[in-house]
Amino acid sequence: MNAPPRAVRFRLNGREVAVRAAPLARLSQVLREELGLTGTKVGCDAGDCGACTVSIDGRQVCACMTPLGQVAGRAVMTVEGLANDGALSPLQTAFHRHGAAQCGICTPGMLMAAQDLLDRNPDPSEPEVLDALGGVLCRCTGYRKIVEAVLDVGGRGQIAENPPAGQAVGARLAKIDGIPKLTGAEIFGADAAPEGALWLRVVRSPHARARFALGDLAPLHAKYPGLTAVLTHKDVPGSNLFGIYPTGKDQPVLAPGEVRYRGEAVLALVGEGATITAIRDEELPIAWEPLDAITGTEAALAEGAARVQAAKPGNVLVRGRVVRGDAEAAFAQAAFTAEGSWQTPFVEHAYIEPEAGWARREGDRLTVAVTTQTPYMDRDEIAHVLGIEKERVRLIPTACGGGFGGKLDASVQLLVGLAAWKLDRPVRCTFTRPESMAATTKRHPAKMRARAACDQDGKLLAYAFDGDFDTGAYASWGPTVADRVPIHAAGPYAVPNVHNVSVAAHTNGPPAGAFRGFGVPQCALAHEALCDDLAGQSGLDPLEFRLRNAIRKGESTATGQVIEASAGLAECLEALKPHWGPARDAAEAYNAHGGALRRGAGIGCMWYGCGNTSMSNPSTLRVGLSSKGRITLYSGAADIGQGANTVMVQICADALGVEAGRFEVVMGDTDLTADAGKSSASRQTFVSGRAAQLAGEDLRSQILRRANAGGGAVLDIAEGAVILREAGQEWILDLGNLNAGPNGDVLLGEGTFDPPSTPLDDNGQGAPYATYGFAAQIAEVEVDVELGRVVVRRIVAAHDVGRAINPVQVEGQIHGGIAQGLGFALMEEYVPGVSENLHDYLIPTIGDVPPIEVILIEDPEPLGPFGAKGIGEPALIPTAPAILGAIQHATGVRPSVLPVTPHRMREAILAAGREGIHG
Ligand code: FES
Ligand code: FES
Repeated sequence: MNAPPRAVRFRLNGREVAVRAAPLARLSQVLREELGLTGTKVGCDAGDCGACTVSIDGRQVCACMTPLGQVAGRAVMTVEGLANDGALSPLQTAFHRHGAAQCGICTPGMLMAAQDLLDRNPDPSEPEVLDALGGVLCRCTGYRKIVEAVLDVGGRGQIAENPPAGQAVGARLAKIDGIPKLTGAEIFGADAAPEGALWLRVVRSPHARARFALGDLAPLHAKYPGLTAVLTHKDVPGSNLFGIYPTGKDQPVLAPGEVRYRGEAVLALVGEGATITAIRDEELPIAWEPLDAITGTEAALAEGAARVQAAKPGNVLVRGRVVRGDAEAAFAQAAFTAEGSWQTPFVEHAYIEPEAGWARREGDRLTVAVTTQTPYMDRDEIAHVLGIEKERVRLIPTACGGGFGGKLDASVQLLVGLAAWKLDRPVRCTFTRPESMAATTKRHPAKMRARAACDQDGKLLAYAFDGDFDTGAYASWGPTVADRVPIHAAGPYAVPNVHNVSVAAHTNGPPAGAFRGFGVPQCALAHEALCDDLAGQSGLDPLEFRLRNAIRKGESTATGQVIEASAGLAECLEALKPHWGPARDAAEAYNAHGGALRRGAGIGCMWYGCGNTSMSNPSTLRVGLSSKGRITLYSGAADIGQGANTVMVQICADALGVEAGRFEVVMGDTDLTADAGKSSASRQTFVSGRAAQLAGEDLRSQILRRANAGGGAVLDIAEGAVILREAGQEWILDLGNLNAGPNGDVLLGEGTFDPPSTPLDDNGQGAPYATYGFAAQIAEVEVDVELGRVVVRRIVAAHDVGRAINPVQVEGQIHGGIAQGLGFALMEEYVPGVSENLHDYLIPTIGDVPPIEVILIEDPEPLGPFGAKGIGEPALIPTAPAILGAIQHATGVRPSVLPVTPHRMREAILAAGREGIHG
């Protein structure tokens, strides 16, 4: 029998501790599991992400790479040690004031890295901040507000402390739920589970396409007594197939004998954590028969190609089409035409929090807590898989450490739900980083061809687009991408003749799903390149060309929809003008000196329909008032770091007429909230925000009616009563006389909003969205033409958001979107089996994201709450086209294959015969 490990003693956050664990145990694991300090996060367990950063003897260290034995006798500090007697430290306060934490999963690591710097250098320069924080990845913020915060410790920051009633909308309010993200108290998917929960580990396919047979499991159980169960597809009591659309439920929870992509779930091992981790995949009795895989859309769509799914002839999941006017006739008559082709890869969401959660059965009900963007869809999908009524599943979202579309599809929740239901034991699961990357959805790779034409004056006449999108093995959100692409492919311009088609084709790649933009970032590469080409041909400046063609109120989109209001692209372009000319001139002046470094400035524009495409898209929110005067917003809109909780409160507070600071929020719990749809498609501020406004107005009108007060009355909510005042009169509504509902509320306001849209006809004509976001961005780059290295030096971003409910949050979304757009343009490429980790799959670090200047345009949307519309996806879309335009300005070469890595840039320069460009 092994002797128990000797205790390792060290100082932790100022007090002595002794831990009996293996000296080689990871410090991160010991902190979290032995000492209960879950503020230290684990994003990769491989030294790549920095989420686990702690301080040892005052220096920042990755706790996942530090064996416990190494801290014996030393001083360890974690994020839990930063606050002093519950008061935030100056650094934490600066993060709060600057909106430097979005989802918050990277925040503890960022804080510890920054504290290390500040302890040595209380007044650092920006380069010193970039250097000190360079080991911690953030996927949400674009880092700029983190840098601002570290440079402003002890300063005043930028927030509105507590705006008075009626002034919350438009205020720079700090996140109402922000403080736990700064102290380490926030509970993410992996941070908690019921006592005694079993662990679940998924066994996944090592092959892109294979058949398999499962042998006798008895020897495995005999060898590993801690193995409680091995679940197969036969254990699924309801449907083994899941998916987003009712017609697209084609992905097995556990594969029934055939796998269609590397990383597909085959078995679930459930038992003691140490046991299921110790079992090697090679020990499992699985006989694999690998088959030839279909890779890429060309192979998938080739005549006679093997079918990835038997029910999908030609490997076609769905086709999209938007046809308006007579594009070919317009091309024939045009003064100028341009054409090209573009290619993009699989792109990984790379949220820092891998999928995680737990489930517990309670009689005939199941509770599941999970990191998610879509609690209600999860609830319904779990019920579908278990074959039970959806009301018997309660979904409670944990804090979500980033989603970006990747946590719209069910993953861990189905498996822990199945295991807990089947075994009647609580079960938890956390995906490893490689597992998260291999198993979950990606951005669709695209192969696109496009043409555009304009008249002598540079007015667009025609646009034709043809795009093949690799939707991978299963449907996921492929239909959404195939629909959205042809609608948006001609860009935010008035084009009378359009012929846009797309196809989503099945391959043996990972399922391609939702990722910030649903295909629009890909097709924006084409329309912006063609605008630059036609601008050159027609002798117009690129910005002027876009201004001439920008869609305006009263004009029709490619689907024939007349934009009635809130079309701010022209204003965005006008706002960029003062930056554009000087940026172009400065680059050209720099280049006049010769040398291998060339500079350029480019511009990119976008539009994006907010909400589901041509589908009902409702949200319902409620706001309750208790007899004690407590105000609770019940919001089913998942806050995934984008600030939905704060924004909903700001809207509802102004509609109700009370201070935002009075509100409490219940977020996403399907037993307590109403369905507010998913946090995607840039819809929550627009759709759920409007529902929050209606809920606030409803509660207000109930209060006024019961008190018999006038419409303009000012509300003062006190314990047990509402006092209403108007024009010297006063009314009192006694809340103690009212009956309380199930949550203790005596009054409950409710609002539902479903933005109007219409179905599209066979030519894609109709009104697919109620409103659109618009934006234009300028990128300035420097290209080393000998090495092919591209550095982005500055971005100026003008976005029409209708109304900025919370400018700090809007800026944060824009910064984060730009960082992801930069990664899309220059570095991110997911290759199954090759880049399934964060050292081979590169995302922008703090040193890669340049200074960003944000210009907010507010062309109000009448349907939106106080005029607001969405910003989540619009932030990313114009960045890559702007960067490519800047590369072209710098070098005369416009790469068409993403990402533009140094070797691709260098190849493009050589292929264009531009190697002598620098003289
Ligand atoms: S968890 Fe330690 S570096 Fe990622
Ligand atoms: S706030 Fe940094 S990863 Fe989300």
